[in-house]
Amino acid sequence: MADLPDARTLPLDETTRAALAERGLEYRLVENERVAAMEGWAYAVHRGFAGGDLSPEDAADWREPMAWRRVTGIYDPTVPQVERPVATASSWVAPMTVPGGTLPSWSISTITVAGTHRRRGIARALLEAELRDAHAAGVPVAGLTASEATIYGRYGFGPATQIATWRVDTRRVRWNGPDAPGRVQYVDREDAVLLMGELHERTLADRVGEIPGWPRRWRGRLGLAEDKNDDVRAVRYLDADGAPRGVMAYRISGDPEADGAGVLTIRYLVAEDDAALGALWRFALEHDLVAQVVAPMRRVDEALPWLVDDPRGVKPSIADHGWLRILDVPAALAARTYAAPASVTLRVTDPLGYAEGCWRVDIADGRATATPTDAEADIELTVVDLSAAYLGGFPLAVLAAAGRVRGRAEAIDALGLALRSTRAPFLSIVY
Ligand SMILES: CC(C)(COP(=O)(O)OP(=O)(O)OC[C@H]1O[C@@H](n2cnc3c(N)ncnc32)[C@H](O)[C@@H]1OP(=O)(O)O)[C@@H](O)C(=O)NCCC(=O)NCCS
Repeated sequence: MADLPDARTLPLDETTRAALAERGLEYRLVENERVAAMEGWAYAVHRGFAGGDLSPEDAADWREPMAWRRVTGIYDPTVPQVERPVATASSWVAPMTVPGGTLPSWSISTITVAGTHRRRGIARALLEAELRDAHAAGVPVAGLTASEATIYGRYGFGPATQIATWRVDTRRVRWNGPDAPGRVQYVDREDAVLLMGELHERTLADRVGEIPGWPRRWRGRLGLAEDKNDDVRAVRYLDADGAPRGVMAYRISGDPEADGAGVLTIRYLVAEDDAALGALWRFALEHDLVAQVVAPMRRVDEALPWLVDDPRGVKPSIADHGWLRILDVPAALAARTYAAPASVTLRVTDPLGYAEGCWRVDIADGRATATPTDAEADIELTVVDLSAAYLGGFPLAVLAAAGRVRGRAEAIDALGLALRSTRAPFLSIVY
């Protein structure tokens, strides 16, 4: 996507800077070139997520994914480790896949507040600054993945994509899918890093809610960064012409040598076509000395139950994953395509004001326009629920059944049908 704003070039939010300064705290940009400052910042993030001390090499490893982000820290000049911020954030503008295209999303990550400074409104100050900056830069939505589902609704984020952890009893199921025409081969992990990145980028359009990844994300999946792990292996799938179409990182734990009771965990699997996907699943399910396959962070509508003879041997457990926050209703609604026509009046409430208003939404030929109106609303909902429904992952009728969306049933059904997407939205990475 051309011409995305570069978050690094934007000034720090003055409202938050001034409010924190009054409390003796300094809100600062952290420059990637300043090695000691980045190291202190990485240390604070790791501490914030309940990690142990970072080695200097591991701290240095953080600079790659931060090079293209705006990195901010809040500093307390009274603490002894003064180079370590008491709160952290990073953000960048990513092209998020939506039905029929992409949408600039202000991606927010690494939000932490030190245990010594928690519950004093510091996270709120950071989040409100991020949203003000995103809105000022003309970015229509913000996105994040959440450590806890209770944190971000208060800022207008709704859970917009889900993930499933699939557990397969491999002693119970037999492969019942098509035979793939190509070959599965082991590859070096460093080569798999490159292939994973390439395939992720080439398949972005297949996953509504997805954003581009970065090398350290793939190195982490391959056990070469983050939670380093030499047990991780990588295999690729080559099609009949010898072109790589899929790659999988996995690890076997448990007790494979005692009665073949190993547990094969798929750490990442990306495939460009159905043959590659099937071949890599089959490799995992038929692996010797393995009694269970566990695949976290996969699609909720994975083809897996249809690929085995006994679908009850395959169990998903589902969780929220990608959170979305609409900042500009007309721009967000205009950015995607729709499955059906609809004409409704929508009243959106938003405590922070960005999406607040009453909108006439007309959807025809797969495209929507939203214009402000004074007419009576057919549908009333909060920005959280509009954001949750936006990618098509949660039918409006379900949100209505929960009392979250109110209005005329026909209008709710019409907009709900229009918002559906072909597959369930799927963000395959954490950020
Ligand atoms: C989550 C975290 C950033 C919150 O920071 P904080 O400065 O204590 O939060 P604030 O004081 O600004 O609280 C803002 C609001 O969020 C609520 N809140 C904060 N953390 C919460 C949590 N973990 N669960 C539920 N509510 C939470 C507060 O009660 C407060 O509510 P209110 O505005 O309705 O009064 C901090 O606890 C943290 O660093 N946790 C560990 C790392 C983490 O999980 N980060 C999030 C990554 S996605």
